[in-house]
Amino acid sequence: MRHLIDIMDLSVREINELINTAMDIIEYPEKYCEVCRNKKLATLFYEPSTRTRLSFTSAMMELGGQVIGFDDANSSSVSKGETVQDTVRVVENFADIIAMRHHTEGAPLEASHVANVPIINAGDGSHAHPTQSLTDLLTIKREMGRLDHLTIGFCGDLKFGRTVHSLIQAMSRYEDIKIILIAPEELQLPERFKLKTPNLEMREVTTMEEVMPELDILYMTRVQQERFLDKEEFERVKDSFVLTLNKLEHAKPSMRILHPLPRVNEILPEVDDDPRAAYFRQVGNGKYIRMALIYQLLLWSKKNK
Ligand code: CP
Repeated sequence: MRHLIDIMDLSVREINELINTAMDIIEYPEKYCEVCRNKKLATLFYEPSTRTRLSFTSAMMELGGQVIGFDDANSSSVSKGETVQDTVRVVENFADIIAMRHHTEGAPLEASHVANVPIINAGDGSHAHPTQSLTDLLTIKREMGRLDHLTIGFCGDLKFGRTVHSLIQAMSRYEDIKIILIAPEELQLPERFKLKTPNLEMREVTTMEEVMPELDILYMTRVQQERFLDKEEFERVKDSFVLTLNKLEHAKPSMRILHPLPRVNEILPEVDDDPRAAYFRQVGNGKYIRMALIYQLLLWSKKNK
């Protein structure tokens, strides 16, 4: 059984295959509109979501399949104390594939240990968000035409930002990648995500202005209030990095701004109409890459049966 718990569960060849499938879906949607006929996706969301859950739902519908699930764990038997593993053992009777978001790091992995259908991690705690990374990779490929020879600035909450953790891992496998970490001291990238691979260069800075001219991608993130135990610390850092049109003055015309969204105030709305702002196009790519993922995971799992 194939699952997607961590972006490193996929080989570079498989990631490229998913990106190519997503590109084919964008060009020839009619080829794929029945490929999941009679299949069901269950979306088990223990934590709030707009983009991930709705794009999974829309993706399955556009593949001709159907969707069941919950978006509020309190309305399911979880509220009576049912474990994630028991819930998955039950839901696999009703669905062919499961996408799970959970506030606890490792919950989708635990689910995958007992599941007889593919489990997709739709975000677990501050650990990983592999389908957001696939979305980001498709966006970079479509916007820049390549996934190698890039300088990427990650800005904001690098401590709790699971999308940052997953994308750094994903980019570490492509050639000549420079990562610049732009964060206040309290929100710096945890040591375990500071990868040491020969094709990846990493450095830390404290302002986005000092590195703006060298960036190919500026990946902005939200400071995540819900993961702070100390509210005073949150108040101190919440406005650390705000992107304005002024700050883009010295950026390359070809630079692209990505953000997994939702944003709070870290990108001012005045930036939205700049052609370099790619974050709403990025959301659209999320549906296509999730279509490719559902389709391919069901195929790979069938072949392995
Ligand atoms: N990017 C992302 O995961 O958004 P949601 O929390 O709305 O799903």
